[in-house]
Amino acid sequence: MRILVVGGGGREHAIIKKIKENKDVEKIFALPGNGGIARDAECVDIGAKEIDKIADFAETEHIDYAVVAPDDPLVLGCVDALEKKGIPCFGPSAGAAIIEGSKVFSKNLMKKYGIPTAEYEVFQNADDALKYLETAPVPTVIKADGLALGKGVIIAETREEARNAVIEIMKNKKFGKSGDSIVIEEFLTGPEVSVLSFTDGKTLIPMVSSMDHKRIGDNDTGLNTGGMGTVAPNPYYTEEIAAECMEKIFMPTIRAMKAEGRTFKGCLYFGLMLTEKGPKVIEYNCRFGDPETQVVLPLLKSDLLTVMQAVTEERLADIKVEFEDKCACCVIMASGGYPEAYEKGYEITIPDNLEDSVFVAGAKLRDGRLVTDGGRVLGVTAVSATLEDAINSAYGKVEKIDFKNSYSRSDIGARALEAIRRA
Ligand code: AMP
Ligand code: GLY
Repeated sequence: MRILVVGGGGREHAIIKKIKENKDVEKIFALPGNGGIARDAECVDIGAKEIDKIADFAETEHIDYAVVAPDDPLVLGCVDALEKKGIPCFGPSAGAAIIEGSKVFSKNLMKKYGIPTAEYEVFQNADDALKYLETAPVPTVIKADGLALGKGVIIAETREEARNAVIEIMKNKKFGKSGDSIVIEEFLTGPEVSVLSFTDGKTLIPMVSSMDHKRIGDNDTGLNTGGMGTVAPNPYYTEEIAAECMEKIFMPTIRAMKAEGRTFKGCLYFGLMLTEKGPKVIEYNCRFGDPETQVVLPLLKSDLLTVMQAVTEERLADIKVEFEDKCACCVIMASGGYPEAYEKGYEITIPDNLEDSVFVAGAKLRDGRLVTDGGRVLGVTAVSATLEDAINSAYGKVEKIDFKNSYSRSDIGARALEAIRRA
């Protein structure tokens, strides 16, 4: 089979490595891929948002199956464009990807179908939002409606901060049209859990749960990032909570999408907060999470391509999806300075025996050598029988990998370990 994967980060590298395990796969193209993905796939210089070019390429190259991984192309209708060319795909149509593409849509969906989430108000103009904030409780959470490179959520501790966020988003258009509408919602507290799932619109199979670490600094301090590391499974996510989520959140969501004429097929990501009043949805993503994928897929025992095809062909109920009864930890190695300004172009050395453990995110090839080319550069993953061993092993590997000014958090998984010890 000839496979095409749209995207070019650590998540896509993890997907490609897993798809490669299928013996029927002859060739994988990555659009655009990156310098590390180039070891596992043929990278083609077409951007993930160039929908027409992607569809034309897939047709010309006789692609048998396509995986669209990032949010932007999904929301822009990449799956619809590929399907129009007769190419089977993994990923939701644009009509269903709106569950991530519009926070107003997803909040209204949850309200309409009784899915637990934070209380909220929607505003289409800044003056109404500012008036509401005069009496709203703080802390409060301001969310731009549309995609904003993961930066569209502001937790405001004070009214002043909340007002500034509204002005930045709605008046100064910090996120462009994504800020034409905003959601202002109740601030929730509790442990966060990421649950990725496979769904064909009728059946939903959750993957192993995971925990992201979004802040740049140890002990969850400093600026928000795209994610500095992950562990799986998430110890806060007990079997009891999993059953409750299935009943009150997961199944109601896919039924709601179907009822709205927006059947969701692909990977549906539930960002959950385990509050005192039960699990609530913080966000939906219409795709695999990054860097959650880098710990979830290494634990997948079943063949990924087979599962993906079952999703596409709506026969997920007929197959088994199995995960190893093990733990995984992924530590992100970033360019020093990230998520603010950083330098790039530094050579990366990875010992040969560690190639399999490394998912490359922001790196390119220069004269055949891998050099840094982004904020988050590598995801280094280890799988082990216990979480403690997985964490130690991941950090052991990080020590053997080198590039100038590299930065990692030193406490990935520490909170999860503490939760296990307390239990
Ligand atoms: P997002 O950019 O949507 O992934 O959100 C970033 C982070 O903001 C989440 O992972 C949560 O930690 C936090 N967050 C979002 N909504 C809320 C909320 N209603 N209450 C508390 N924290 C929130
Ligand atoms: N790790 C969070 C996300 O992929 O959005």
